[in-house]
Amino acid sequence: MIEQIGRILQLLVSAVALAAGLFTVSPAMTFLLIVSAIPVALGESHGAFLLYALNFVQTPLRRQLLYIMHLGTWRESAKEVKLFDLSPFLGHRFGELSKQLHDEECKIHRQKLWLTTALSSLAILGQFAIYAFVLWKAIRGTISIGTLTFVTGVVTSVSLRLQEMFILLSAIADGSLYLTDLIDFFALKPKIRSKPGALPAPRPFRQGFEFRNVSFQYPASPRKLLIDVNFHLAPGERIALVGENGNGKTTIVKLLMRFLDPTDGQILLDGRDLREYSLEDLRRQVGAVFQDFVRYNLTAADNIAVSQIEHRTDRRRLELAAEKSLAAGVISQLPHKYETMLGTHVNGVDLSGGEWQQLALSRVYFRDAQLLVLDEPTSALDPFAEEAVFQRFSDLSKERTVLIVSHRFSTVRMANRILVLHDGRITESGDHDQLMALGHRYAKMFELQARRYQ
Ligand SMILES: Nc1ncnc2c1ncn2[C@@H]1O[C@H](COP(=O)(O)OP(=O)(O)OP(=O)(O)O)[C@@H](O)[C@H]1O
Ligand SMILES: [Mg+2]
Repeated sequence: MIEQIGRILQLLVSAVALAAGLFTVSPAMTFLLIVSAIPVALGESHGAFLLYALNFVQTPLRRQLLYIMHLGTWRESAKEVKLFDLSPFLGHRFGELSKQLHDEECKIHRQKLWLTTALSSLAILGQFAIYAFVLWKAIRGTISIGTLTFVTGVVTSVSLRLQEMFILLSAIADGSLYLTDLIDFFALKPKIRSKPGALPAPRPFRQGFEFRNVSFQYPASPRKLLIDVNFHLAPGERIALVGENGNGKTTIVKLLMRFLDPTDGQILLDGRDLREYSLEDLRRQVGAVFQDFVRYNLTAADNIAVSQIEHRTDRRRLELAAEKSLAAGVISQLPHKYETMLGTHVNGVDLSGGEWQQLALSRVYFRDAQLLVLDEPTSALDPFAEEAVFQRFSDLSKERTVLIVSHRFSTVRMANRILVLHDGRITESGDHDQLMALGHRYAKMFELQARRYQ
């Protein structure tokens, strides 16, 4: 845009100088010349706007197209695409989407072409009117041949410059439409953020976390997922959350680290609403293995150190964390140990699902956090690995508060209290023996799983 503005100024200076010359011969002709170029400018900017609007509307379709392209080329989808022979389907879908995008674009370009042709013809008519007028004057002898040559030359060069200027102006107007989007984007503020004068998170936690009548509903969902959830997570306590798929366990995890705020009710930390604490400082207190943890295509060391990246060069700390999560065994097999690049995006070594999970687990130990959240931390671990993690887990210092989400009852037993989430509510709470004695949902789930092993 800056370059274009420079070019416009350049054109303006020469066009004004030339037009001034013409003005001395005939002010009317100068006026006609300028006016006849205006429709072209309007047409150009209208066309630019149409294209912008189309681009805006087409964005979701372009995203779909990009996604189909990724499905067809990503390693993550390769196995299924091959086995299910999805190439023809993906190719067809890609073709359909491209054709739709292409047809819509062609339609606008065709409209634009007709419009600018019609309007440019107007400008040319204006020019020819001037030529005819001066020619007529020259024939009648009112002006000299010299003036005729001068005027025709000026008209041609001024109109060329005017046209280029108007095209540049419309390009600038077009660019500024996209610029408005960019500025709007930068002005977006996250809905969840620290309020001014937010408190630092308490160190250490004194009363821990409390869910008080917490209800939650996703904006896109028609029903409440959590209804009046109440529980207390005391400092040093280890709670396991169990419940069927889609019951809201991961949602509770997200509420706890304020990726979401409750629709109703409050989550308290040491008696104060979570919203009163600095978001960044609150999250600094939490270490987590998410259900969909990330497989960083970085070195093995960095895969552990991401949870507290400022300590990435602290080898002793890395080794301790790797030891706790069993990742040390995996790393010892790697060609360059901690410095081995992992993942195939970077031509690194690929690991098995469980090995990746062990690395993800070591991030929790690496991070200096008071609350540890483990969402399905052992789903990919073999029974030996799970047992070993379980043994080491009990060495965790007593200051660490833990929330475990799991469907595996062998993992759930790492907790000292179990909460059962059912139909949006906490329906049972107690240790394993208490819940078994109760004979409700927990006991049923446990027996169902246990029966399969007998
Ligand atoms: N961003 C979202 N928008 C709308 N609905 C969502 C969103 N995220 C999750 N849900 C819905 O909320 C419900 C609970 O999801 P959540 O991930 O908390 O379940 P979960 O108990 O962790 O299940 P699982 O045992 O399968 O991990 C699901 O039915 C899901 O479809
Ligand atoms: Mg979940």
